Amino acid sequence: MPPTVAPEALARQREYAALVRELLADRFGRPPAAYVRTYGCQGNEADGERMQGMLAEMGFSFCEDPAGADFVLLNTCAIRGHAEDRALGNAGRLKSLRQGSGTMRVALCGCMPQQPHMAEKLRAHYPFIDLLFGPHAVHRLPELLYRMYTTGRRVTDTADEPGSIAEGLPLRRGSAFKAWLPVMYGCDNFCSYCVVPFVRGRERSRTPEAILAEACALVSAGYRDITLLGQNVNSYRSEDYDFPKLLRELDKLDGDFRLRFMTSHPKDCGPALLDAMAEGAHIARHLHLPVQSGSDRILREMNRKYTSEQYLEVARYAREVMPDLSLTGDVIVGFPGETYGEFQETLALVEQARYTSLFTFIFSPREGTRAAAMPDPVPHEEKVRRFRELTALQESIAKQKCASMIGQAERVLCEEKGKRLALAGRTGGNQIIEFDGPESLIGQFAQVKITQAKNWLLDGEIYM
Ligand code: SAH
Ligand code: SF4
Ligand code: F3S
Repeated sequence: MPPTVAPEALARQREYAALVRELLADRFGRPPAAYVRTYGCQGNEADGERMQGMLAEMGFSFCEDPAGADFVLLNTCAIRGHAEDRALGNAGRLKSLRQGSGTMRVALCGCMPQQPHMAEKLRAHYPFIDLLFGPHAVHRLPELLYRMYTTGRRVTDTADEPGSIAEGLPLRRGSAFKAWLPVMYGCDNFCSYCVVPFVRGRERSRTPEAILAEACALVSAGYRDITLLGQNVNSYRSEDYDFPKLLRELDKLDGDFRLRFMTSHPKDCGPALLDAMAEGAHIARHLHLPVQSGSDRILREMNRKYTSEQYLEVARYAREVMPDLSLTGDVIVGFPGETYGEFQETLALVEQARYTSLFTFIFSPREGTRAAAMPDPVPHEEKVRRFRELTALQESIAKQKCASMIGQAERVLCEEKGKRLALAGRTGGNQIIEFDGPESLIGQFAQVKITQAKNWLLDGEIYM
């Protein structure tokens, strides 16, 4: 059984929320303003939407600029050093804002403070942060705010936990037509470079009933694009459901919507999942399948549990059953001890996989992970050089792929105003395309024919 937070514990949080609401109404005589900034993955975005829901319940309004805020919440990511540096930089800038404001309180949450060394650093060097908590404490936000406001002292909630599932939290979604739908949390894979299993706890899945009910409500409310989320979304397991079965059930919902999911791990991406995708009426032909490296030795060192050949076989079968599939991936360049020859194996794999787009990262050592302790003789400049070589290769592939799409018709979700043409939207394959049309189409699907490809930018026109 997944460790679900008891309804009584959640009811207690609602009582705290009511207390905070009263306390702040007395103190401010107006709705206090919250500024919330989320870094990192979509799972963190989904947490951010829940925290905003709880803040709204506590009477907060929301502002776009931390300068005018009574409460600032930085929801951080620890995946690479760069993500942490950005959040620390922004946190540092809050120091003087907080001093200049009579009311501002600052909270830092998410994956960064869940690491003991980082919690310690924040406590020691960022004394103006009033509240520090990790992903396991998200549903306890009302209680944490109550303690912060009533004691006037710093509050911390970053203890290590296997993690739980809190159902029924209030939600303030960032969009009226695109939604994140978490289906599982945590990770048990312990890839040797990765901090996620340490900060997000053990793998646990929501029940199919909870997921189907949320999806049903989203479709009835007019949501057009629903992304099922999990660090290893395809390792989903609850009751007698595995991920392919969950997908097939969700696909049966009636309505004008598109389903996506991320991130899939290649080790759990078998024919059952790819067949369910291919046979689905609502499932976007988009598979995000990080490979990380094309070298089998590096994949072993990374603890990825597949070989490059097995990965390419997944991609081959996926395209056999979905010839129009858009495959995207992630690659880490410069894993400790990666030789130039091993890097060339990554280039060769990228040539064969023909990704629509590829997210490339230079290895960043994460304290406490196995890879951080491995000897790493390759100089940073050489890693940067490899990184550039890889991105240049991928750019040329993306360019060719885009050029080959001219004349093709795509069902596009219109999302926002365009930069070059009136509207911008996304294809089922998750490619951005611009086209002219009325703003009233935002949030709707349109049939768009691709007319031009400028490198990897697509232009089109609405037809029918
Ligand atoms: N659960 C997903 C994604 C995890 S994080 C998966 O298993 O693929 C997103 C990406 O960040 C990873 O796919 C990886 O490419 C990259 N990443 C993770 N840890 C990293 C590190 N220490 N240094 C550089 N890139 C990293
Ligand atoms: Fe990190 Fe690996 Fe888990 Fe992905 S599968 S979150 S890369 S440990
Ligand atoms: Fe970052 Fe945490 Fe997501 S480390 S990528 S925000 S799980």
